[in-house]
Amino acid sequence: MVQKITCIGAGFVGGPLGTVLAFCCPEISVTVVDKNAARIESWNSDDLPMYEPGLSDIIAQVRQRKDACNLSFSCEIRKAIVESDIIMLCIDTPTKNHGAGSGMALDLAHIQEAVRTIGEVATADKIIVEKSTVPGGTTSIIQDLLEAVSTGTYNFEVLSNPEFLSEGSAVNDLLHPSRVIIGCQRTTSGQLAAEKLAAVYRRWTPHELIITMNQWSAELSKLASNALLAQRISSINSLSAICEAVGADINSVAEACGTDPRIGNKMLQSGLGWGGSCFPKDVAALIYLARSLGLNSVADYWAVVLEMNEDQQSRFAKRILSCMHGCINGKLITILGFAFKQNTSDTKNSPSKNLARELLREGATIHIYDPMVSEAQIYRDVNASDEQSRRLRIFSTAGEACAGADAVVVATEWDQFKTPDICQAPYETNVAVGTNGMHTKDIQNNGAHHEHETGGIDWASIVDNMYRPAFIFDGRNILNAQYLESLGCRYVGIGHLS
Ligand code: UGA
Repeated sequence: MVQKITCIGAGFVGGPLGTVLAFCCPEISVTVVDKNAARIESWNSDDLPMYEPGLSDIIAQVRQRKDACNLSFSCEIRKAIVESDIIMLCIDTPTKNHGAGSGMALDLAHIQEAVRTIGEVATADKIIVEKSTVPGGTTSIIQDLLEAVSTGTYNFEVLSNPEFLSEGSAVNDLLHPSRVIIGCQRTTSGQLAAEKLAAVYRRWTPHELIITMNQWSAELSKLASNALLAQRISSINSLSAICEAVGADINSVAEACGTDPRIGNKMLQSGLGWGGSCFPKDVAALIYLARSLGLNSVADYWAVVLEMNEDQQSRFAKRILSCMHGCINGKLITILGFAFKQNTSDTKNSPSKNLARELLREGATIHIYDPMVSEAQIYRDVNASDEQSRRLRIFSTAGEACAGADAVVVATEWDQFKTPDICQAPYETNVAVGTNGMHTKDIQNNGAHHEHETGGIDWASIVDNMYRPAFIFDGRNILNAQYLESLGCRYVGIGHLS
């Protein structure tokens, strides 16, 4: 019976995962550890280090258990390792920026450091669960390292259990996973360890969604899933370029294709490209893996997915320039949205960054507003030269950011940017957990973390306060063209004639 679980790494995976584990398994004590003391302090406060809908609610619910609270955040990594039955590695694996595979391969330095610590301090058998995205074969490397550094004769069983949560819906994804993949060795002890982990997930996940396989398959499933999703978006974006050239409408094409149940309608939203910490690095890692296996045509195939994404971003910037009569020097362009997608403050590989840089290079003055990304983060990301910095300003409301603009560009699909008829109800989820007799809890989160998140922006007043001709560039195809044109502006979306 599992009594204690430690998640090493209190980031985008470890924090929400540890919280949901504690929430769904009241009898298991969960500790999330990290060597970053400031991050742990933040997890222990009311000001969490990240924004995820529903997260603060379930942390509050777990903390209300008072003496029975089974969730803690701590820097005492060694102590937590010693006390745990299962240790989950939720450690970042950034793309390498040096040496062999620079720009493509995943950097395993942080994982190796954590694994060494486990091997050195463990005083009993342990199950180590690899949650981070890793190149195939990493579980064997972890096994090898553990056995090499351990001072005792303990049994370390390493499982691959890739995490498929998306930022912005992490809590929902963890509570209702589409599948739980467990990769284990085909030995008795490997299968026993897999069963122990499966029993934890079965507390709230239907058993048919828990799939076991060998470790390589599990590791590759993670890269493959992200690569296939990224490829799908690159595919629809490549078609958007054709639509713009011939007068077809990408939304209609996506609808027509998506209604075929074999294709399905998810991840077919054309826009200015995918960002985030996962798609870019996982596609790059897959390309690197294929090249290192000598499978050059496989690597070339996936490389095009990456190129198409970059092409989509630069094509959009060029379109802004050409629509604005080939000159934006001295003009004011407002970018609405800086996060790489809605419901997150994460700006990693956000298309907005490249867009802002490109427009600054062309001589435009840039105003930026995002409901969740801090001013300091935006300045850091844009990394403007001294001269460009004088043309860059960050605002805390959309209305102020757009006042006097020649053009407004919607770069993130935040609900609040949507025109009234397209705007959906605020985030709300009724989460039913506990398939085995636990209480069913309702988590209500209407996304009211930020004052600007409630209510949509007032497009009529924004257009009213813009210079003429007033351009609205819809980089996420979330606006109603007719409505905006009726307000007197020129609407330019992605994947249809302007
Ligand atoms: C992605 C995967 O969706 C998760 O399943 C996976 O677990 C995660 O990576 C990970 O490896 O950790 P995430 O990066 O959080 O999740 O974001 P997505 O919602 O997949 O969006 C990625 C990018 O694609 C965003 O920039 C979004 O704006 C863009 N996108 C998404 C589109 O351009 N069109 C779409 O139809 C959907």
